[in-house]
Amino acid sequence: MNKRRQFISQLTALIVAGPLAARAADTGPLVQVYKSPTCGCCSKWADHMRAAGFTVEATNVPDVNQYKRQFGVPPQLASCHTAVVESYIVEGHVPADDVIKMLRQKPAIKGIAVPGMPMGSPGMESPNPERYETIAFTADGLTSVFAVHEPA
Ligand code: CU
Ligand code: CU
Repeated sequence: MNKRRQFISQLTALIVAGPLAARAADTGPLVQVYKSPTCGCCSKWADHMRAAGFTVEATNVPDVNQYKRQFGVPPQLASCHTAVVESYIVEGHVPADDVIKMLRQKPAIKGIAVPGMPMGSPGMESPNPERYETIAFTADGLTSVFAVHEPA
């Protein structure tokens, strides 16, 4: 191959790789996040999910509680933001690994939640991380422990 043809084929490879690479980064499942416009930790959780390969679409809403009610999040499991992933609800600072596990196992639940905003959960990074649990909930409001997170 002469120099010029080689250059053109490298250029073509670059052009093809560009859009494909961009698409690969957003092929993960769509996470639709409903959050208050002033919530900083919500945006940090969204970044955590993006870093794990999810496609994240965040919507600022004036009343997050309206979405929690609409999506059937048991009041005692409430946190800051509420997200929808495939047919599941994800409430609060749930680690991406737990969401991935749920999407793989497809349990007969409505969703998973990390109630409150525990220190050390994704988006709530802290020098004083605490132990917290990810709780599964059903449409009937039954709850069970989905995962336990010990401080590192
Ligand atoms: Cu938060
Ligand atoms: Cu949040």
